[in-house]
Amino acid sequence: MLQVKDLSVTYRARRGPGVAAVRGVDFEIPDSTFVGLVGESGCGKSTLGFAIAALLDERRNTVRGHVLLDGVDLYQLSPDQLRALRWSKLSVVLQGGMNAFNPVLRLKHQFMDVMKAHAKLSKAEMTKRIAQLLAAVELDPAVMESYPHELSGGMKQRAAIALALVLEPRLVILDEPTTALDVVVQRSIVTMLSQLQHRLRFSVLFVSHDLGLVLEVAQRVMVMYAGQIVEDKPADLIIDEAHHPYTKALLGCYANPRATRVSLTGIPGTPPDLREHLHGCPFAPRCTQRMDICETEAPRLLPLKDGSVACHLYTHKEVPAR
Ligand SMILES: Nc1ncnc2c1ncn2[C@@H]1O[C@H](COP(=O)(O)OP(=O)(O)OP(=O)(O)O)[C@@H](O)[C@H]1O
Ligand SMILES: [Mg+2]
Repeated sequence: MLQVKDLSVTYRARRGPGVAAVRGVDFEIPDSTFVGLVGESGCGKSTLGFAIAALLDERRNTVRGHVLLDGVDLYQLSPDQLRALRWSKLSVVLQGGMNAFNPVLRLKHQFMDVMKAHAKLSKAEMTKRIAQLLAAVELDPAVMESYPHELSGGMKQRAAIALALVLEPRLVILDEPTTALDVVVQRSIVTMLSQLQHRLRFSVLFVSHDLGLVLEVAQRVMVMYAGQIVEDKPADLIIDEAHHPYTKALLGCYANPRATRVSLTGIPGTPPDLREHLHGCPFAPRCTQRMDICETEAPRLLPLKDGSVACHLYTHKEVPAR
């Protein structure tokens, strides 16, 4: 359904090198699949999400590569063709989606605006559809008469998800949709989203820095570091079978709820500056298993039995240096 091929994004700078936030990313998402995209702050998750949705301003940013939705390359389409595709094939929910609603319009008008632009429905049909969608995200359909400020943050985010689904898209990209909410509300929204995804069979790219949250709902997890996908794995295997030292380090940031004593390790050091050209493996300076080759040669994403990993530990049989 979605194919991303050798996608790179550079935010150009007025002076000096730009920020190469996405560096040659390749992956596919089949129909009806819930994929999580995780990684530390600044690793390029949002940039990748925006690039897939073709939301980056190409006058100011350089986007290279291909994003194919059902075989159609979004970067070959005219602005009108792209507009026709948005909402109906692909929609986006942002963290700021809570504030994405126009404050002076009742919710139902904002739903109707999207519907009017794409489909010919009577007012009664639109109202019925809005009620169904609000019920699907576990909101009282009467909420459609409300103004955005009359809703709590959690309710607004549910409404933003309902709006994203209004034209039954094939792919919904959610960028940190619950990060501003408390953990209980976060959990209930993510569970609701996962149930909806199962029922309506769209695909999800769920961007989050919270690996724990992602593991609860995603079928597959992609781990991003310094603009690249470093590991891609079925979610149920990642805890026991993580290959990449970065994935293992991320997992070390979470407590095992079954353990009687817990020590959290964290990840020493910081991610590299994405303005610079990176030699070798970008994680090498922080990696406890680095080898000589890691300093000079960039590892490529190689397929494993389940998923794929970009790490020299699995391409070269050297003894770790330390
Ligand atoms: N508009 C922009 N102009 C220049 N650089 C940018 C811009 N947006 C993001 N960046 C840079 O691109 C890199 C990737 O940022 P991005 O927002 O994609 O990361 P992220 O993984 O989503 O982080 P977070 O978890 O904090 O949301 C960072 O170094 C960031 O500073
Ligand atoms: Mg982000």
